[in-house]
Amino acid sequence: MAGKTWGGRFKEDINEKVDRFNASIGFDHRLYAFDIEGSIAHCRMLAKQGIITEEEGSRIISALGEIKRGIERGELPINDDYEDIHTLVENILIEKIGALGEKLHIGRSRNDQVALDVRLYVREAISRMARLIHDLQKSLIDLAERHLDVIMPGYTHLQPAQPVLLAHHLMAYFEMLKRDSQRFQESLKRVNILPLGSAALAGTTFDLDREMVAKELGFDDISTNSMDAVSDRDFVLEYLFATSVLMMHLSRFSEEMILWSSREFGFINLPDAFCTGSSIMPQKKNPDILELIRGKTGRVYGHLISLLTTMKGLPMTYNKDMQEDKEALFDAADTVENCLDIMALLLRQIVFNTDRMKKAIEKGYLAATDLADYLVKKGMTFRQAHEVVGKVVLFAIDQKKELHELTLEELHGFTRQIKEDVFEWLDPALTVQRRNLPGGTGPETVKIRIQQARAEIPS
Ligand code: ARG
Repeated sequence: MAGKTWGGRFKEDINEKVDRFNASIGFDHRLYAFDIEGSIAHCRMLAKQGIITEEEGSRIISALGEIKRGIERGELPINDDYEDIHTLVENILIEKIGALGEKLHIGRSRNDQVALDVRLYVREAISRMARLIHDLQKSLIDLAERHLDVIMPGYTHLQPAQPVLLAHHLMAYFEMLKRDSQRFQESLKRVNILPLGSAALAGTTFDLDREMVAKELGFDDISTNSMDAVSDRDFVLEYLFATSVLMMHLSRFSEEMILWSSREFGFINLPDAFCTGSSIMPQKKNPDILELIRGKTGRVYGHLISLLTTMKGLPMTYNKDMQEDKEALFDAADTVENCLDIMALLLRQIVFNTDRMKKAIEKGYLAATDLADYLVKKGMTFRQAHEVVGKVVLFAIDQKKELHELTLEELHGFTRQIKEDVFEWLDPALTVQRRNLPGGTGPETVKIRIQQARAEIPS
């Protein structure tokens, strides 16, 4: 490895293979911009505190700026002979401006430096996430609004339960995503804390102005315990947890769309672009993209569990085990961002077979609960009503009829409390109309929620 920052104490070079095993440059190069941003803030503070001169400070800062631009433009390729991104940037700096570059690391350790870089990464990932979640939420609102009059079976246990509005069903995912978005935002107050100034573990003898660095880098506060600041990665775990829950939601939605696209349900047509065929069965159109979203959920959970496990046995403070945080974090972020993007794209092209949905509510006794409610309104207790309706359903199954196909005489066989007005309670298409209470699937309620939801999303 080139340019070791810690060679002084060592007599022998470590073995090439060991070097590679130890290195993180292969993945942490993604942190270069944050690393440089942090270094610039640190350097500005060193100069203001008189730890280095203003002139030295400006030379270091302008060289750091050049390095950043060089990497961005691909003129400074990431050389994986270096151990990690921190070593790489410091070495290029020293190559550029000589021994002066060696002053940048005053009062700093890679331990607080890497904690800083990862915090900056997570902060930015959360802001990307907010935008992506909002895009998906917008697609859901648009779909719900366009299908406000479509009724479909609602399920429990995957058995037809009660009719619901398709819009209500879609908006359920809006609400899940809203909480996902909140989870990320709320975690920000723990992410957005400056660890720099903790140095290796004990703080430093230099008179650093940590508040200044925090302000410069847009942090809300500074960490209050140097040992904690370099040794914990709970903010990464929170991000991975929030990501896992979000993926769980995307996975459930994918699963539903996979079911709905099956011949058996036939509720949606997936755009061709999101499906693939079979190499042997010419008729097939498989929902691979949705299956992949469902599948990638396992991978993101894996990252959460893997980092939890990595962290659980570590003594204070920094341990090299923690280098394993980054691949988990980066891959989780890449995966979920891809999935959100693809899902929003798919929703813009999905086609609902609304006739199939409407037809599906006609079978399966979906108005049974409404019949029980009707009987309660006529004076029965709910338990009595439940019992009676159970018998009515059994009879109807026997007669191969749906509830609304029964005659008044047949219904009278169960109780005289049923009157002519029962039929509007038996029509599955009318059941949603009676559910305009807040949070219900009534068209008025859902319409209002859609309007509110639209206002909740920044345009
Ligand atoms: N590459 C290291 C990591 O990602 C940076 C910190 C190294 N610190 C140390 N004391 N070896 O965790």
